[in-house]
Formats: sequence, structure tokens, C-alpha cells
Amino acid sequence: MKSFYVKTFGCQMNENDSERIVTILRRQGMTPAASEEIADVVVFNTCTIRENADNRFFGQVNKLRERRAVDPGMRIVVAGCLAQGEQAAIFERAPHVDVVVGTHALGSIAQLLERSDGERHVIDVTEASDGLDPLADLVAEPTDGHKAWVTIQTGCDNNCAFCIVPQVRGGEVSRPFQAVVDEVRSLASQGVTEVTLLGQNVNSYGRDLTRRMRREEIESGDRGFLTGQVYVSDSIPRIRPLFADLLRAVGAVDGIRRVRFTSPHPKDMREETFQAMAESPMVCESLHFPLQSGSDRILAAMHRGYRGERFFEKLQLAREIIPDLAVTTDIIVGFPGETEDDFEATLELVARCEFDSAFTFIYSPRPGTEAGEWRDRFIAPEVIAERFERLKLVTERSAAAKHHARVGRIEEVLVDGPSKRDATVASGRTRQNKLVHVAGLDGDRYRGEYVNARIFDAGAHFLHGELLARD
Ligand code: 5AD
Ligand code: SF4
Repeated sequence: MKSFYVKTFGCQMNENDSERIVTILRRQGMTPAASEEIADVVVFNTCTIRENADNRFFGQVNKLRERRAVDPGMRIVVAGCLAQGEQAAIFERAPHVDVVVGTHALGSIAQLLERSDGERHVIDVTEASDGLDPLADLVAEPTDGHKAWVTIQTGCDNNCAFCIVPQVRGGEVSRPFQAVVDEVRSLASQGVTEVTLLGQNVNSYGRDLTRRMRREEIESGDRGFLTGQVYVSDSIPRIRPLFADLLRAVGAVDGIRRVRFTSPHPKDMREETFQAMAESPMVCESLHFPLQSGSDRILAAMHRGYRGERFFEKLQLAREIIPDLAVTTDIIVGFPGETEDDFEATLELVARCEFDSAFTFIYSPRPGTEAGEWRDRFIAPEVIAERFERLKLVTERSAAAKHHARVGRIEEVLVDGPSKRDATVASGRTRQNKLVHVAGLDGDRYRGEYVNARIFDAGAHFLHGELLARD
């Protein structure tokens, strides 16, 4: 019996795809191995969002070069975004790789592995099929028993000048409304209580389904499946499945206690989504709202579709509608052409937004993207490094303040397991998605359980709590 090991780089979308790969390989009769050093089949599910993601992958795959040379039965598979975007480079820089499988061809991984018995380099990077559901036959078994990712949409229709995602993941395709709800039902019946809905731009969910229904003849049964609505007759016009409706529907599934989602795009964020978050008790008070820059000039060059002030207004609206909302963001430092004034506008807006935490990134030119060509406007690395540190001070200030504001409160914690550093402490997440270490709680025994903890201390990235009462 063959064993496999899947190594995942990048975002939650990739984590979820890796779960699909695991399901496929298990169905082939393979078993999981403890590490890539001993597995017969090693799958790298790659990311290419920044250059260091590429480099990390090449570093890791090259470690297997010697073993592959002496082990003819071993197979190395490269899947994911780098596989889709840089097929040729993979076989050039790592000729010991056996199979390259792109983001749209995951489902064929088993057949490709079979082909690799007779062919040195096997590759499938064909684009998406146009079936009703791009992930219909690709089941993801959750890695954690109590929480799961649910992909609601693949690809992206935006054209942010820095971003490679549309190239490697293709255009936006929403999964049918009912397929998402059915998947959540099935997860709930297996004991999952927290789901995170995934997409590159979740709040434009359904836009393509509406277009498709206008363009194509779709039977009424399929229409209902696509939009989640029962069609009385084909003549009912233009019913549009909305992300806000999907949030409500998923929150209403029996057994689901927490619903999260990532990521929305600020330009498409509408009040109806905030209303659904506020009205559906299962939707958590947590929002990832990627700002990218606080300079209107840079936001325009990035093609983000909003100005700093508009972003701030939407954020205010979210906080008004959803009590106790935690907000996180993404910011890029050193986008081509960013001046000191632009950067100061970012510092100023970030300070006003008071984020709970911020993921800050150094701009990385990606081949084939618009901004990747703007070499004459690239910013010197030492200037970027200095800006990066200044930004960190501002984001950490609000993060610390937000954490300290929780001290003395009672928080519901979903236990993930024992803390990595101390087995007498259990770690979990609050509804706001803050990490809590609960002292004196057996993390193995309470994994997947909801407990109430009183927060007595706060660090920069986590809270300390003591058990109050079991739920
Ligand atoms: N360089 C740096 N950061 C990037 N991101 C996307 N593309 C790049 C790039 N070329 C960041 C954005 C996005 C997050 C997932 O990664 O901030 O929101
Ligand atoms: Fe995720 Fe983008 Fe990286 Fe692909 S390139 S794994 S979509 S972050």
C-alpha cells in the first residue's frame, strides 16, 4: 500500500484544496505518511502570491532530489498556483518532479499519477470546465473534526495591479447556492460546528450565476440549485443569489454555531452583508477587510476601486451595524511609485481604522502582472524596510489596545487543542477570532468544545483566560 504526504503553502483556499487532494489519494487506497521524508507520493500544493512563496517551495522540493534519484517508485507532484502559473519553470528548476497539476485540474491527480509510471514529466494545467459546480466531485474531508473550510467561489474577476491570483486561479466562478448549503449540512452531520466560507471576493458571490442564467437555457430544477430559490416557473425574472442570503442560509444549518468568511473586497462590500452578519447569530463578529494602501493615488494605481475615505466610511458602517466587531486587514508596503507622502497617508489611515490586527506585506513584483512591469517605479529595498517597521509600530499599537480591551471580559472559546508550548493549557478562538490560551484545561479532552473563559491578561497576539463554566 502506498503512502502520501501533502505539504501546503499559501492561503486557506489552498488548505481546502489540499483536503480535496487527501480525499482523492485516500480513495485510491493510499494512506497518509508522517512526513515527506518517508512518503511514496509527496504532493506540494504551492502558492505564488509573493516571490518568497516560490522560493520556499523550490527550497523544499530540492531537498527531495537525492531521494527521488535512488527511489524509482517515489513520485513528486506539484499542484496549486505556482504549478498553474510557472509550469515550465518547475520542470526546469526541479527536473526530478514527476507531475505538475494546475488549479483547475485537481480532480485528475490520480490519473496523472498513474500516467507517471510510463512518462517522465506529466502535466495538466488545462483551464476550468464549465460544469455547474467546479468542485462538485471533489470532496474535502476536514482536517479538524470541529471546523472546516467551505469554498463558495473560485477565481477572481478583479484586476489589482499587484496580484497574480486571476492568472493562476482564473475568472470568478460561484458554486451553486444549494451545493454550498448541502456541503455545510453534510459537514454539520459529521460534527463540524464552525465553517469558514472561502473565496477571492466572497461578496460578489453569485454575480456570475445571474449572468449565466441570463445567457443560457437552464432548467428550473437547476435554477433552484444555483440560486437556492425554488422556481415556481421559469418566467420569474432575475433572482440573484446574494452573499448575504448565503450567510443567513449557512448560519441556519442545524448544528452550525459559528460562520466566518474570507475575503471580501471593500469596493463590493454592501450594507446588506453587514446586516446579515448582525442578524444571523451564528455569523461571527469578525471581518477581514483588506485596505492595501491609504493613499488615494496608490489605490488608483492598484485599481482597487475605492478611496481611503470610502473604505473608512464602510468600516464605520460595519462597526455601527455589527456590535463588538473585530476587523483585520492586509497592507502592502512599497508598491511601485509609493512616495513618502503616500506612505504617510497609509500610516494615518491605518491609525484611524484601529485594526485588531494587520497582515503587512512587502511588495513583490509578480511576472505577468501590471505593476510587475513598472520597474522604473520600484522602491529601494532599504526604503521599504524602514517603512515596513514604521507601519508595524502603528498596527501593533491598535492590536495591543484591542487585545487589552478584552481583559476582564467573558469570552466563548472554541477549543482547538493543547497549546503548542504548554500541555496544561488549551488553545482556542473567540468569536472575534482571537487566540486564547486557557489555563488548566485539557486541550485534548476539550478539543472541539465551547467553553467560557474570563480573560485576565493580553499579549500582542493572544489572550490569557481562565475557565469559567462549561457550556
Ligand atoms: N506583493 C505583496 N503582497 C501581495 N499581496 C497580493 N499580491 C502581492 C504582491 N505582489 C497581498 C495582498 C493580499 C494578500 C493576500 O497578499 O495584501 O490581500
Ligand atoms: Fe492562495 Fe493566492 Fe497563494 Fe494561490 S497564489 S495559494 S490563491 S494566496
